[in-house]
Amino acid sequence: MRILVCGGAGYIGSNMTAMLAARGHEPVVFDNFSKGHRAAVRGMEVVEGDLADHELLVTTLRSRDIEAVMHFAAYIEVGESVQEPLQYYRNNVANTQNLLSALEAAGVQKFVFSSSAAVYGMPRRVPITEDTTKEPINPYGQTKLDVEHMCHYQSAAGRLHFAALRYFNACGAGNHGALGEDHRPESHLIPLIIQAARGKRADIRIYGTDYPTPDGTCIRDYIHIDDLCRAHLLALNKLDERAELVYNLGNGQGYSVRQVIEMVKRVSGRDFKVVEADRRPGDPPVLTSDATKARTELGWRPEKPGLEEMVTTAWKWHTEHPDGYSD
Ligand code: UFG
Repeated sequence: MRILVCGGAGYIGSNMTAMLAARGHEPVVFDNFSKGHRAAVRGMEVVEGDLADHELLVTTLRSRDIEAVMHFAAYIEVGESVQEPLQYYRNNVANTQNLLSALEAAGVQKFVFSSSAAVYGMPRRVPITEDTTKEPINPYGQTKLDVEHMCHYQSAAGRLHFAALRYFNACGAGNHGALGEDHRPESHLIPLIIQAARGKRADIRIYGTDYPTPDGTCIRDYIHIDDLCRAHLLALNKLDERAELVYNLGNGQGYSVRQVIEMVKRVSGRDFKVVEADRRPGDPPVLTSDATKARTELGWRPEKPGLEEMVTTAWKWHTEHPDGYSD
């Protein structure tokens, strides 16, 4: 299939693009490179452009005979979304409305959307199933939920077949370890711990040690980027028969911040300073998924469910790319 990958130069988008190409699809990356890396999409067809540019989107969809669109181009920082809500509504909601309108104009019906566990807010029970109440507690999560609603109504109007994939904590390096995580600034736990292990930062701070969890630190459900991307392929195929799909993507296994730190120490063989700090506002104590629906309906089976393999691939990528991507 010819697939437009919006945000295809970012962490998840570049891994998806590589997997699509490896499976015989024809991905076209659409990215404005505000966050993405050119080095992550070397050899791929790239259209440099912005999702606000309706004309460019329609032209791209038509001229490349695009059959499906995968959409990874969003802002992802919870804290920043609280500080700059309008930027999040513009980039994540308004630009996605623009993209969907371009799909409609070009007659493209299939759409796979990166949603997030952030749509659930502070869940009252875990593990989280797809029908758990959705009560986002920050603008980031709200923008993801708003886009899900937009897709739902567009689908109900007979104009869209879409899959909303609610990611838990994506991590690791994918595509045989070639494509890693390089956000600037970095805010994600595993790359930050790796920076501490490599001496690139003085310490790793644990945000909160008084949570109601066994060791007092937050628990998250980490998922290897390769497993995450494979679920997208399965969901895309399913869009032939279903107009609306919503799936949680996680392993259902939670690891605390302290456990992740210990894993990085073990994998790297390095010791580093760990500082116990205050809670980060808006962090739920435990986020773990029930991804039974994706397993049952899509036949999705994570192949790298263990934290050790996730951390090992991340560690290897960061040691092989000491300064991250070159551009
Ligand atoms: N954490 C620390 N120290 C750090 C960084 C993070 O203790 O230096 C903790 C956080 O408080 C949290 C856990 O590590 O408890 C994981 O934090 P991340 O920022 O790596 O991940 P989040 O669970 O907060 O965020 C993830 C995705 C986001 C997405 C969010 C909601 O990485 O992009 O889920 O779905 F917005």
